[in-house]
Amino acid sequence: MEISVIGAGYVGLITAAGLAEKGHNVLVIDIQKEKVDMINAGKSPLYEEGLEEILRKNSGKRLKATTDGEKSILDTDVTFICVQTPADFEGAVDLRPIKRVAENVGKTLKKKKTYHVVVVKSTVPPSTTEKTVTPILEENSGKKAGRDFGVVMSPEFLREGIAIKDFLNPDRVIIGATEEKAYKTVEEIYRGFNCPIYRTDPRTAEMIKYASNIFLATKISFINDIGNICKKLDIDTYKVAEGLSMDKRISPHFLNAGLGWGGSCFPKDIRGLVHKAKELGYEPKLVDGVIKINEEQPKIMVRLGKKRLGTLEGKKAAVLGLAFKPNTDDIRDSQALPVIEYLLKEDACVVVYDPKAMENAKKTINGRITFAKTAQEALKDADIAFITTAWEEFRELDYSGMKKPIIVDGRNLLRHRKDIIYEGLCW
Ligand code: UDX
Repeated sequence: MEISVIGAGYVGLITAAGLAEKGHNVLVIDIQKEKVDMINAGKSPLYEEGLEEILRKNSGKRLKATTDGEKSILDTDVTFICVQTPADFEGAVDLRPIKRVAENVGKTLKKKKTYHVVVVKSTVPPSTTEKTVTPILEENSGKKAGRDFGVVMSPEFLREGIAIKDFLNPDRVIIGATEEKAYKTVEEIYRGFNCPIYRTDPRTAEMIKYASNIFLATKISFINDIGNICKKLDIDTYKVAEGLSMDKRISPHFLNAGLGWGGSCFPKDIRGLVHKAKELGYEPKLVDGVIKINEEQPKIMVRLGKKRLGTLEGKKAAVLGLAFKPNTDDIRDSQALPVIEYLLKEDACVVVYDPKAMENAKKTINGRITFAKTAQEALKDADIAFITTAWEEFRELDYSGMKKPIIVDGRNLLRHRKDIIYEGLCW
């Protein structure tokens, strides 16, 4: 099928590359000329495992990048909208980028002679596709949705680091539409995928995305809440999780207790839905609690360090890990950031290290912290170390360069070590 994808950001580029890999002809549209040139040269403007390989293989053949949105929409049958939906200062989802895109797509649809399907992939609050995107498309095209063109909401469930794999082997594809022709067109795109396709309406599809992320974050906050109680009772939370997850109704995934969740999706989406619910006059108590537990974990970590040393004032504290999870350089809403903030509030001398995220951290973190070149440099003469990201390499580090190897482990990496003074965060 001939497909255009608007936005060569994370979701757009993975979607475009994945669809090309599955045999479709894809045009990916972006306003940044440098990005477009890179993609056409088979290079990835962002790091994601396996992405560059797919770009190299498909660029110039089934995958082309362009700045010409209008021509791309006219030349294709389906357009995926993959623009960002950032949070505004109140936590609400900023819909301006998607509204601008819908306006332009609508204007192009006015010139189009044949049926076209617009697929919203960006994460948007429930009812946005029907109440905001569709009216803008209709107004600017002078056409009727459901008759002259189709509108579909199909959320993404890509995890950073394994997004290509997630795209090519999804657990399910959700197709939220209102008419048969639109369902059929998008189902045709996913014909080569080995997974269930779930038909629903657009606002249910939008809610499925939020509910999925919130459910996963809830599992993590749940096990952290249980873990905080376990710690006080001298019970190993990981053993509790193991026993718990033997119940088939529970599943072992996302039950790793520790410092909690961060990243570009969970925090933004969870706050976005809370904001929407409150706007509608509903207080989502469970979800509020999920956020509160997550905000507490970095405080608990610093408190444990303070208890160990008596005071953190003037103490050298090594923070190992800045990325929100391993195998990425992404520090957006990383739980390491509040740990650093609280350590600074305690007047500790903070030294940080991360195998991949140092450059991003230097651009973002202001304050009296030192950026070490290696983990060993961060640990040298440190009074205490905090493990904040689950990088595999931290498991086998040499901690003997510290004054005393006191480690507060927020990611369950070091409990096997006999040569350190160990403190698990909530186990
Ligand atoms: C997430 C969703 O998994 C994905 O489906 C969605 O589309 C985007 O958001 P991602 O942000 O890449 O993906 O990260 P994920 O691997 O889900 O981890 C999120 C956070 O939870 C990380 O900070 C991670 O460290 C933390 N986490 C995860 C835990 O603390 N414990 C766990 O058991 C699992």
